[in-house]
Amino acid sequence: MFFVPMVAMDGWMMADDGGGGMVTSSQAIRKPFPRIRFTNYNRALQSPLMMTNNGHTANIVLPLTNNGQRAFIEGGLLPGTFEAQSVHFHWGSANSRGSEHLINGQRYDVEMHIVHKNVRYATVAEASLRSDGLAVLGVMLQAVPSLISTHFGLNRILDRLPQVIEYQSSTTIAGRLTMNDLLGDISTGRFYSYNGSLTTPDCAESVTWTVFSDSVKLPRRQVAKFWDLLDERSLPLINNYRNPQEINGRPIFQRTLI
Ligand SMILES: *[C@@H]1O[C@H](CO)[C@@H](O)[C@H](O)[C@H]1NC(C)=O
Ligand SMILES: [Zn+2]
Repeated sequence: MFFVPMVAMDGWMMADDGGGGMVTSSQAIRKPFPRIRFTNYNRALQSPLMMTNNGHTANIVLPLTNNGQRAFIEGGLLPGTFEAQSVHFHWGSANSRGSEHLINGQRYDVEMHIVHKNVRYATVAEASLRSDGLAVLGVMLQAVPSLISTHFGLNRILDRLPQVIEYQSSTTIAGRLTMNDLLGDISTGRFYSYNGSLTTPDCAESVTWTVFSDSVKLPRRQVAKFWDLLDERSLPLINNYRNPQEINGRPIFQRTLI
């Protein structure tokens, strides 16, 4: 699930991105396609970097990088060049895991979505109606008992979650942060890719999914900060993931290392 900002609307319209796939390596079609190429992912994002509780998730709107461009991706099975627009998360609760994709039957604690828009389209809203409109990178986060944390970027974000507990509250994430900092040290060469659909009125298949096999490990005490967020009705914002859908014969590709 992710959220498409609608310029003309107050707040956010929720769109179902058809995420939540059950991926097993045996079902995936293994192919030697190219790796994802990341550009400006190593550059500092301009400030302010804002995170907002929109009632469905903690959402970060991505600014330009320090060279005045957007961070963008190409390669993989992406049908074009896609600029990074926003980041959000899906999580579980103290006794459940919350990733939308399962990899070989395993659900992870949290799934981070980095939403990108095809440069051919002016807005995310427009892109969401096009078959080649959006590309989402899915990164699994795994809670581990350790107290030591090495993931500088994600920890800086998670440290700010106590500032967005209330619905519609926002905070800024200060200091230098790059998109690579968000990816941590995952190996980006191994991933699954498939076409997902939006349940917008014309049901356009608009998302090319790229879900990395590797996961980021974070201390459980950091992951626990998600569970304190509250929704529009001041109820706990937990388990904000969509249940896995049948693959329905759609091909899921797995990149094999060349
Ligand atoms: C997505 O669909 C398009 C059009 O059918 C196809 O060319 C492309 O290979 C598909 N991509 C994936 C990842 O399945
Ligand atoms: Zn999502």
